Amino acid sequence: MAKGMIISFEGTDGSGKTTQIKALSRYLEEKGYMPAILREPGGTRIGEEIRSILLNSDNTEMASLTEMLLYASSRAQMMEEKVEPLLKEGKIVILDRFFDSSLAYQAYGRDLNFDAVLSINLAAVKNIVPKITFFIDITPEQSLKRRQNATATDRLENEDMSFHYKVYEGYKKLLEKFPERIIRIDGTKEAREITNEITSYVDNVLKEDIR
Ligand code: TYD
Repeated sequence: MAKGMIISFEGTDGSGKTTQIKALSRYLEEKGYMPAILREPGGTRIGEEIRSILLNSDNTEMASLTEMLLYASSRAQMMEEKVEPLLKEGKIVILDRFFDSSLAYQAYGRDLNFDAVLSINLAAVKNIVPKITFFIDITPEQSLKRRQNATATDRLENEDMSFHYKVYEGYKKLLEKFPERIIRIDGTKEAREITNEITSYVDNVLKEDIR
């Protein structure tokens, strides 16, 4: 059986990450793996407290650097408390967003220095990077349409469209920067078709990993 690894999912809000994560998890279970699904802050008590500051719509005065460091802090806590022990047990850990979100939202979206955001985040995750990352690609317009059906919105979702465009363009740049790790998936396809695409990539990774 494969050793522990992270598979992460990225995309703008409403891209269908959650559906695909569940489908991949079911697929892996059928193959005899016992994957863990985590979304930041991963159920850590400290992370939950940090997250409530981050998403509180009243915190309009939050500085971009504060925002970036808080996401990195919550991530560091989740790594130490949850992800690292799971990886040590040899588990596949599926993450609903990881540090690429900070590169897209905080570096590109908030115009923070890319290298600074990257190195802070690599420190936060102790250089443990995903084996494979799926970027589920839907445009900011499609994302907005899907979000309009949702009931509550958080501080980040309340940002104007120009922010969401920057985040989207940021994800495109990440695809160019990390082509061997990040796979673009067309998020407008049928959910089933997307799942098939994802599972075939994962199958290849699992094959590679068996020695
Ligand atoms: P999340 O609850 O994961 O939202 P979604 O259900 O849309 O995936 O994340 C909440 C918001 O936080 C979302 O708008 C993206 C943003 N975010 C960042 O800006 N930076 C980050 O590092 C992460 C993890 C999320």
